[in-house]
Amino acid sequence: MKPLADGLDRILGEGAIAVMGEARRLEQSGKRILHFEIGQPDFPTPQHIKQAGIQAIEDGYTGYSVSGGVPEIKQAIQDEIENTRGFRPSQNQILIMPGGKAGIYFTMIGTCIPGDEVIFPDPGFPTYRSLCHYIGVESIPIRLKEENDFRLDPEDIATRINERTKLIILNSPQNPTGSVMTKDEIEAVAKLAEENDCFILSDEIYSKILYDTEFHSVTSADQAKQRSILLDGFSKAYAMTGWRLGYIIGPEPLIEKLVTLTVNAFSCTPEFVQRAGIAALAGSQDRLLEMTQTFRKRRDAIVKGLNTIPGFSCKTPPGAFYAWPNITGTGQSSQDVATLLLHEAGVACLPGTDFGPDGEGYLRFSYASSLETISEAMDCIKKASTRWAG
Ligand SMILES: Cc1ncc(COP(=O)(O)O)c(C=O)c1O
Repeated sequence: MKPLADGLDRILGEGAIAVMGEARRLEQSGKRILHFEIGQPDFPTPQHIKQAGIQAIEDGYTGYSVSGGVPEIKQAIQDEIENTRGFRPSQNQILIMPGGKAGIYFTMIGTCIPGDEVIFPDPGFPTYRSLCHYIGVESIPIRLKEENDFRLDPEDIATRINERTKLIILNSPQNPTGSVMTKDEIEAVAKLAEENDCFILSDEIYSKILYDTEFHSVTSADQAKQRSILLDGFSKAYAMTGWRLGYIIGPEPLIEKLVTLTVNAFSCTPEFVQRAGIAALAGSQDRLLEMTQTFRKRRDAIVKGLNTIPGFSCKTPPGAFYAWPNITGTGQSSQDVATLLLHEAGVACLPGTDFGPDGEGYLRFSYASSLETISEAMDCIKKASTRWAG
């Protein structure tokens, strides 16, 4: 066989998938595993959304559809953005995609070329780094500091930004730390991007999962017309991970080209899925509110529990559904503690290093698990902690 494209050797996998595979293997051998590794809500998709998808199939929306997304979902998104971000994008600024991840991929390959530099948070969503490797752009990870509650500090961006910087990736509320950037911080980043003429990809996939915190979008500054690209989707807020539905909103010239790329890559996002998405945005938000309230109770329980484990300390995250305990007090590496917890405590979580080198010293727990499971997991971890606490 002739050699494959060299970019393929540079793509990285995702730790969560690997840990889930190992956890399943242990379960098959009879071991009980408590799951905290995967970032997906453990709630079903709300009934009215499922019903809209089923109805759309019944109504025959099962063929090819327009490439950038149907006008009806674009209109629902225009309303949504007007209500939540304070501006109304044009329909030509919106691109419907099969999931938010596709939006990251398209934005990065649509804006960056080898030799460019891309700034992103470390720890951060692994796809950002992986795609930098794949495209051949220089990764500029910015460390999220615990003393800044893991919020990306614009002053740290200022020290690394230069004429080669093409793209800054923001993610607030953030995976894996649950941090939420302040309005001042967001505005400072918008200013830096303008001064240095670079794009900003604002990954806002957790924008609806917030606890007593205000959400600010960097895209409000230029209304996603000049340099900012807003990414949001349905996976997390509406428990629709498997439906594969997300969108980006950006400058019309970029979106126009990306629609053509869509034509070549996957033609369209299934229309019955888009019709379910309309029901999600335009229908009742009660399930979302209930889900967020449940997440808040779990967050409080898991943070409290983690803070009782010898060698662990955990801040209270204001967004998303992840706890990010500092485990340096154990004297062990993140990977060693995560492995020990999986095999001895039967608790599947992720080592912080799955999110970048600056994740060393931390673990990520996705609290998409019941209060009972959280309580049981804390007991199991406490028992296992004799391994490092003596
Ligand atoms: C920060 C972040 N962005 C994007 C995504 C992708 O979401 P999806 O492709 O399911 O819409 C995720 C999923 O875990 C995420 O954590």
